[in-house]
Amino acid sequence: MSLVLFLFLTCAICYFIHAKWKVYVVGSRIPGPRALPVIGNVQMLNKLKPESLFQSVAEFRARFGETYRLWLGPELWVFLHSPEETREVLNDPTLTRPAAFQQLSVLIGNGLLISHGKHWETHRRALNPAFHPQILSTFTPTIALHGDELVEKLRATNGQPIEVSDSLFACILDAIIETSMGKQLNALMDPDNRYTHAFHKTSELLFKRMTNPLLALDFIFQHTRMYRELCASLAVIHELMAAVVDERTDALKKQGKLASQVESLLVSHPEEAGIRKPRRTLLDTLLMTEIDGRKLTRGEICDEVNTFVFAGVDTTTAAMCFVLYSLGKYPAEQQKLLAEIREHSLEDAELTAESLIRLEYLDLFLKEVLRYYTTVPLTGRQTTTETVIGGRHYCAGVTLWINIYGLAHDERYFHAPEEFRPMRFGREQNEQVPPYVHVPFSGGPHICIGRKYALLIMKILTVQILRTFDVQLHKPQEELVLQAQMVLKSLQGFNLMFEPRARKG
Ligand code: HEM
Repeated sequence: MSLVLFLFLTCAICYFIHAKWKVYVVGSRIPGPRALPVIGNVQMLNKLKPESLFQSVAEFRARFGETYRLWLGPELWVFLHSPEETREVLNDPTLTRPAAFQQLSVLIGNGLLISHGKHWETHRRALNPAFHPQILSTFTPTIALHGDELVEKLRATNGQPIEVSDSLFACILDAIIETSMGKQLNALMDPDNRYTHAFHKTSELLFKRMTNPLLALDFIFQHTRMYRELCASLAVIHELMAAVVDERTDALKKQGKLASQVESLLVSHPEEAGIRKPRRTLLDTLLMTEIDGRKLTRGEICDEVNTFVFAGVDTTTAAMCFVLYSLGKYPAEQQKLLAEIREHSLEDAELTAESLIRLEYLDLFLKEVLRYYTTVPLTGRQTTTETVIGGRHYCAGVTLWINIYGLAHDERYFHAPEEFRPMRFGREQNEQVPPYVHVPFSGGPHICIGRKYALLIMKILTVQILRTFDVQLHKPQEELVLQAQMVLKSLQGFNLMFEPRARKG
């Protein structure tokens, strides 16, 4: 018996060494903290928890240089920092998303955020038109209606402090669900909405799992309470999404229109008082899309719609939390933005995509918020074959992390990076930021498909809030703590006061 066990263990060790030898060789040539046998740097995992992530990444870089590695047991993680490596990684077609991203498949199936190869390529090409600026601009009135609801909710606080992140989450969820699927969720007005709770809970649980390597294996995770909670929330979301997709498919079929007619029917009719006319939604574009001469299946459509909500709501909410936080923290910026709104007579006017384009300082301000607070601080890729990045040879099975936060705070590219200065992006100062340094939405072929959509939502909400209220910080929280919470998807601590603004004249 003991001989069988001995042989089994020997074979297992030989197989393991054979499979991981190349990875070991690659890792041994990259600087990094001293690794212990078998467990590697697992004892340092605490340093990668969201609470300390931002500081640790900066600390490691100072100690080990631009490219350094960590061993998570047999897994090799390499952190990259230079714009050149970033460009090469983001444009290398042999790389896929890190293995941990597959954990998202319970929610988003094989949606854009995790698919790769031909599937990703054809779907991305087919979905790009859904995010065309002309289509996005038709979303403006719907987003503004949700912004009005948010303003009313903030007005009801009568200048008392409010933790603003829940309201922002609900408002942005409402706006994205209505513009992407034509469904009115009413999350903002109904705090007990079961769908809001399910969306919130699902992304929180998925991120908790992704940031905890002890829960990586399915058979361990499936025995946890977290798993049971996740299944319950997923059931609610899948039921809603399937119903919305079926409803919309039937409606389009009943109308018996050809794709082009549907398009012209849905693309923006002027709003009549109190009635929301149907507009063309992202879902409509998906329903009309053909790939290689066939329509997308119901499953594929649900995957992509779930991806939009998952990838879009938390990120845009986090960014908006920091927009409002920055307005409160920097009253002088608030005044400049307000002056621009007044200069373009947008104090009371209905917002349109064209009027928003004229707000150039708002653009710079949002750019600086996305640099300074870096809503997505890291993004990763996995090598699937031999490849060369930054002159270094990598074999298959290595995880590469791009330090979006580190790049955005590197003094070689940004003068005084710890200062909040929107004008660093202005034409006058024309600070030369090399490509692949400011990449809040990533870059290369996987660049965020929803970036213009997110910016549109952020612009509309910022103008609506700013022209109605003087935003003030109540209890300033430590920014690193806020950023850590942002990574964990448990935004809290954005305590702000909204004082109604005196009307001019
Ligand atoms: C401020 C808000 C947002 C930020 C900071 C952000 C950031 C990012 C980043 C960094 C990536 C690339 C990840 C990578 O290269 O691995 C990404 C991808 C993606 N984002 Fe966004 N995003 C935002 C809003 C949105 C919105 C509103 C949507 C959709 C409605 C969206 C949908 C997606 C999708 C589908 C992908 C995957 C694209 C692909 O791989 O082809 N995002 N986003």
